[in-house]
Amino acid sequence: MTLEQARAALRSARRVAVLTGAGVSAESGIPTFRDAQTGHWSRFRPEDLASPEAYRRDPETVWQWYAGRYRDVSRAQPNEAHHLLARLERGKGEGFFLATQNVDGLHARAGSERLVELHGNLSTARCEACGTVAPLPDPEAFTPPPSCPVCGSRMRPNIVWFGEFLPELALEAAARAFEEAEVALIVGTSGQVYPAAGLALETRRAGGMVIEVNPDETELTPYMNCSVRDVASRGLAALMGEG
Ligand code: APR
Repeated sequence: MTLEQARAALRSARRVAVLTGAGVSAESGIPTFRDAQTGHWSRFRPEDLASPEAYRRDPETVWQWYAGRYRDVSRAQPNEAHHLLARLERGKGEGFFLATQNVDGLHARAGSERLVELHGNLSTARCEACGTVAPLPDPEAFTPPPSCPVCGSRMRPNIVWFGEFLPELALEAAARAFEEAEVALIVGTSGQVYPAAGLALETRRAGGMVIEVNPDETELTPYMNCSVRDVASRGLAALMGEG
């Protein structure tokens, strides 16, 4: 399918579902998980920082890592790709759904509302005892670990770690939206982490059209109707008729 056909399909679709990954935030200067492991952190493997076992073993180190990443994303700004997706949502209204694997909160800051954050959010914490979710203080004033505002217990990062389940309601809503979508956009994700990556396949299976925006080929490329080989901002602008 040509770019022109993909653009026409996106324009006329009443139901659009979007899946984003780290690539959508690359132009905001947010390093991917592995790229962020520089200096002191280079001796840690992702599983040493982002797993329930790691947190049980050494909560202080895990919190220091997440506090640092929270500081990084607070200083970053949403880029044109985040803004274009917020604009697409305003155009499609109730027929729009955005599922992100990113924990940086940049989609919400760009104005996206019909949004689920499948892997959690760096700017909130969750109580280990009662499950309350609360925002973290300003990054400059934050010394981990935070205490629960309701019961006073220690809170953990509100992130879905390796080996943990995704929030059930969010995943169900996303699965429904991707199944019903006439067009699904898959932006800046390598498609290696399930169940998020499987959302693209839901649309395809149900007869919808699947379009990828990624400078590189991915695991999902074979299932795409169209692959736009460009960075997220330019690829989305081209698809939305603004490039
Ligand atoms: N625009 C669009 N895509 C880009 C850009 C860009 N400017 N730069 C890089 N990419 C693409 C890469 O080609 C790659 O396919 O973004 C993708 C990033 O892949 P990953 O780093 O694997 O990120 P993601 O797919 O979000 O990872 C999924 O894995 O690390 C865990 O839980 C974490 O949510 C994360 C999940």
